[in-house]
Amino acid sequence: MKHFTSVNHIDDLDELLLLAKQIKSDPYAHKALGTNKTIGLLFFNPSLRTRLSTQKAAANLGMNCITLNLNTESWSLEFEDGAVMDGAKSEHIKEAAQVVAQYCDIIAIRSFPTLTDKEKDEAEYVINAFIKAVSIPVISLEGSSEHPLQAVADILTIQEYKTLQKPKVVLTWAPHPKALPHAVPNSFVKMMQKANVDFVITHPEGYELNPEITQNSTIVYNQDKAFENADFIYAKNWSNYNDYGAITSQDLSWMVTPEKMALTNQAKFMHCLPVRRNQIVSDAVLDGENSIVIPQANNRTYATQAILTKILQDEK
Ligand code: CP
Repeated sequence: MKHFTSVNHIDDLDELLLLAKQIKSDPYAHKALGTNKTIGLLFFNPSLRTRLSTQKAAANLGMNCITLNLNTESWSLEFEDGAVMDGAKSEHIKEAAQVVAQYCDIIAIRSFPTLTDKEKDEAEYVINAFIKAVSIPVISLEGSSEHPLQAVADILTIQEYKTLQKPKVVLTWAPHPKALPHAVPNSFVKMMQKANVDFVITHPEGYELNPEITQNSTIVYNQDKAFENADFIYAKNWSNYNDYGAITSQDLSWMVTPEKMALTNQAKFMHCLPVRRNQIVSDAVLDGENSIVIPQANNRTYATQAILTKILQDEK
């Protein structure tokens, strides 16, 4: 593994999950692997879990970790080739990326989508500008179209909590007051397509994700029907993909409530967090005994550590 910016970069999911489980049971086993190595975490957007779990994963591997909040602490970057830089942008990505790469052995980047320019977002223009400019590995800490580290933690959590060989996993859209990206559901869909699960997506009509990603995954527009016999409910909001970035529904009847969960096979409730209470999910579900959002967030460390371990091993 050279870069990790998409679920597509996982060759062998079973092998990766075995490694993550081994790391979870013995987090310092590969401490020598990262000695004298540095990872640079570059954030164009806020984060709690991704930032701290990646720092912890790097520390567990013996790595140095340097973090920069690019939008608030550094020069504003120009990404266009051939730009006449007579405006607000102070530095071109070509220099910035090469300079950062001299200080680091791995670069990890968070860069959310514009939600106004679909083509630019789907080209992952920020992360790919770094990949183009440097020769060291690049990891996505959530890009404009994928959040692959989250998806590894999600499948690790499902594996830990499943009671059936092939559980039914339902990805449900849920209401939210702001327009949100498609990165988390995109990576979750890709991951479920790789996993041994019975996978169903449910959302209001018109909220279809990119069909090139959902492919032949089952889509059920009736949320109650989709929830029947589910073993895992994974809630997430996303903005409209066809009417790109728009909010075309805030229908609170899609909120995950105890009544909805009663339709399931005592399903576990999952969400990547942060989550809006009593919009996406009611207090009673989030605080209930079947909510596994906190151990799901804990698995972010071991998922990331498994990816870093593979990259460091392959760089040796
Ligand atoms: N789930 C997730 O990526 O959380 P943060 O945005 O807090 O990093």
